[in-house]
Amino acid sequence: MRVKALDYENPIAVLRDIYWVGFYDQEADLHCNPYLIIDDEEVLLFDPGSIPHFSVVMRKVIDVINPEEITHVVLSHQDPDVCGNIAVVEDLIGRDDLKLVNHSSLTRLVQHYGVKSPFYEVDKNGGKLELKSGRVLEFLHTPFLHSPFGIVTYDHESKSLFSSDIFGGLSDHWSLFASEDAAFESMSRWHQLIIPSNRVLKDFLQKLERFDIQRILPQHGSILEGSFVPRAIEHLRNLPCGIDLTGGTLP
Ligand SMILES: [Fe+2]
Ligand SMILES: [Fe+2]
Repeated sequence: MRVKALDYENPIAVLRDIYWVGFYDQEADLHCNPYLIIDDEEVLLFDPGSIPHFSVVMRKVIDVINPEEITHVVLSHQDPDVCGNIAVVEDLIGRDDLKLVNHSSLTRLVQHYGVKSPFYEVDKNGGKLELKSGRVLEFLHTPFLHSPFGIVTYDHESKSLFSSDIFGGLSDHWSLFASEDAAFESMSRWHQLIIPSNRVLKDFLQKLERFDIQRILPQHGSILEGSFVPRAIEHLRNLPCGIDLTGGTLP
């Protein structure tokens, strides 16, 4: 367990080659978590965030690397908190060969943010991206969790799952790493707000069974490591959401 106080004003190394570069807003109960993977010759930025978060996120990116080194931006889904700033991020990176990595069903929405980079549509590439180093990222389509066009990313090298809104949390007492059981209460609040039913969650959790997951890095809430990983999976497996809470009728 991490005991040292973390400085949320600066980028935080989750692993040697994975960084949190989010904006810590003390007033918010919904914290957004962009991440970087720094591989040999390639750098991936996950869910860069919103326009209001742009300056802080990019300052933290610049503290770690030169933005021109970013070769891929992974877009888990279309929400403004996920990629509202993508067009300005793209400009700052300034690479002709930058790739936007997303599900093909998302492309028709993301282009409305005014992007110009080519898309790497994961479902048209075997659900995988192999980096020059041989590192393999695998993508799962996660329809209705909550976006019909969403994906999560599993990094085989670090055994990390970048889980988008899934496994996220809503809390007035946010910390980057889950360290107490309150994390499960935060997860309940968030999932019961955005997930349409337990059925879709259960189906997704079943698909995860073939992966050895050491940590989960959600786009909101806290990073889950160690025993928090299986406990979070079990927690969501049994969590009624959305239409389950209304007796099967629409509110
Ligand atoms: Fe979302
Ligand atoms: Fe989100």
